[in-house]
Amino acid sequence: MPLIDLTLLRQALGPMAGRFDVDAVDSCDSTNARLLERAAAGAPSGSVLVADRQSAGRGRRGRPWVSSPEDSLTFSLLWRWSADPARLAGLSLAVGLALARALESLGARGLGLKWPNDLLFRGAAGDAKLAGILVELAADRRGMQVVIGIGLNLRAPQVSEQIVAGLADCCPALPERHQLLAALLAELAQTLELFAREGFLPLRSDWQARHLWQDQAVCLLEAGQLLAQGLCRGVDAEGALLLETAAGQQRFLAGDLSLRPGAQP
Ligand code: BTN
Repeated sequence: MPLIDLTLLRQALGPMAGRFDVDAVDSCDSTNARLLERAAAGAPSGSVLVADRQSAGRGRRGRPWVSSPEDSLTFSLLWRWSADPARLAGLSLAVGLALARALESLGARGLGLKWPNDLLFRGAAGDAKLAGILVELAADRRGMQVVIGIGLNLRAPQVSEQIVAGLADCCPALPERHQLLAALLAELAQTLELFAREGFLPLRSDWQARHLWQDQAVCLLEAGQLLAQGLCRGVDAEGALLLETAAGQQRFLAGDLSLRPGAQP
């Protein structure tokens, strides 16, 4: 039996339950892959797939995403978008903000955001990754299918290439799993609805307030190549990264950001 019980989840969602069509499974290859398939077959906006275990979890830039059932929460949400696809820029930042807000409402502290959409915990060991977000897009005659995949560490994985944290590091007590998923889904729905109406602009100041690398010296890489380096000035109204470089302020829509150790801000 999957760790998520649909009756308990419905109770935890309360009046928001009607907005979601949730399926919980013991295992699948990737909740994103399965939900993209269901979207192509006509699944409605608000469809959610939560899996205890993934055999081929997908991370950003083709990396694998590995998680263990008890120590993580792994799910994807399908959200249909009928407006201009160009207005989707900034969406993944909105998702990161929604996660931070939901977890803070459950008592998490020390959370912060890294562009474009990593949720981090600022602990004694540095900025540690708490959750990964993978947004994948497809299109059909009704518009865009946006699949938002989330892998949240409840306890920090023992082995990892990067510094990682678990929700247990940020909260006095780990929230109950159904309450946690319900809080995340409810906040995602509210934030995405605002984003659909007004774009990233009304979310920008809240995102900036949690931006961990503001004014830090950073490098921006794309496929291992240095795209730019400079001081990280946060994001603009569309969610583009603003870097103050030797050639002046520049904006970027994609790339992998890292701190430049030893560089002076
Ligand atoms: C990252 O690399 O930071 C993004 C990781 C996203 C992982 C989640 S787990 C649920 C969903 N299904 C997947 O295959 N990937 C995402």
